[in-house]
Amino acid sequence: MKILVVGGGAREHALCWAIGASPLCDELYCAPGNAGIAEAATCVPIGAEDINGLVAFAAREAVDFVVVGPEAPLVAGLVDRLSEKGIKAFGPSAAAAALEGSKGFMKDLCAKYNIPTAAYGRFTDPTAAKAFVDEKGAPIVIKADGLAAGKGVTVAMTREEAMGAIDAAMSDKIFGSAGAELVIEEFLAGEEASFFALVDGETALPLASSQDHKRAFDGDEGPNTGGMGAYSPAPVVTEALAQEIMETIITPTVQALKAEGCPYQGLLFAGLMIGPDGRPRVVEFNVRFGDPECQAVLMRLKSDLLPALIATADGQLRNITLRWYDDAAISVVMATKGYPGSYEKGSAIGGLAEATGDDPDTQIFHAGTKAGPDGETLANGGRVLSVTAMAPSLKEAQQRAYAAVDRIDWPEGFCRRDIGWRALETQR
Ligand code: AMP
Ligand code: GLY
Repeated sequence: MKILVVGGGAREHALCWAIGASPLCDELYCAPGNAGIAEAATCVPIGAEDINGLVAFAAREAVDFVVVGPEAPLVAGLVDRLSEKGIKAFGPSAAAAALEGSKGFMKDLCAKYNIPTAAYGRFTDPTAAKAFVDEKGAPIVIKADGLAAGKGVTVAMTREEAMGAIDAAMSDKIFGSAGAELVIEEFLAGEEASFFALVDGETALPLASSQDHKRAFDGDEGPNTGGMGAYSPAPVVTEALAQEIMETIITPTVQALKAEGCPYQGLLFAGLMIGPDGRPRVVEFNVRFGDPECQAVLMRLKSDLLPALIATADGQLRNITLRWYDDAAISVVMATKGYPGSYEKGSAIGGLAEATGDDPDTQIFHAGTKAGPDGETLANGGRVLSVTAMAPSLKEAQQRAYAAVDRIDWPEGFCRRDIGWRALETQR
């Protein structure tokens, strides 16, 4: 088969790594890819949001199957456009991708179908939004309705912070049209977990559990980021809890979308808060794999990923079982100093080959890299590398990942040194 992966981050590198290993895959393309992905796939210079360019390429090259990594092209209707051309793809339609593309849509769906989530209001008027904050009090959470590159959420610990977030979105329009409507919701206390399931419209198949670290600095301090590291499994998600999540959240959501006339096909990612009462509630839905959770989860997948992705698109998931390594995996993100604020691009990264040696259980997935004029690897983004290792215990996986990190020569980069701390603490 000819496969095209859309995207250019470490998540897509991990997808290419897994898909390229499948005996079903004869040719693998990635658009746009990056310097690391270029070692696993043929990179084509088409942006992940260039819907016309992607559809034209897939048609011209007679691509058999397209796997879409990021949310933006899904929300923009890439899968709909491909299927009009008879090209099979992994990922939801635009209508189903509204689960991530519009927080208001997601909240209304949860309310209508009794899917546990935080109480909320929807606002297009700043005065009404502020009155709601005054009525509910802080802490309170302000969310831009639309896609805001992971920056649209303010967890306001004070009334003033909440009012500032409303002004920033609605008066200063820092998120553009994505912030014209706001969802304001109850603050949920507890421990977060990421829950992934493959969904074929009807059947949902859960993947191994994971947790990420969203704050930039050690001890979960500093600004929010796209994710500075992740690990799998997440000890907080016991087998009983995974079953409860399937019964109270994933299956009802799949049924709800079917009933609404937009059946969900693809990877359904529930960002969960496990409350002090032990009950899971949805913080958000995403319509794609989490990054860096994907890298840790796929490392543990023993089965061939590609047939499972195809079965998802074909409505055949009931015929798929996935096998997992019992080992734990951890992914440490190396980012350019300054991230998630401003940072410089173009610094050289050395020691990548030496960092993994030939250990198949250590992989360096590239996020923002490009090849320099002499073939050297240059940093080309905020999050740059996702150093991922698997070992019989989380502690050993952590040691291996950081040993690889320490062999990488990149003075302009930084990483957290405590990825996995929460899980390791519970194991003591
Ligand atoms: P997002 O940018 O949509 O990934 O959300 C960012 C983060 O905001 C989530 O991962 C949570 O840590 C936090 N968050 C979102 N909604 C709530 C909520 N209702 N209560 C507490 N924290 C929240
Ligand atoms: N790491 C969380 C996300 O991809 O949204």
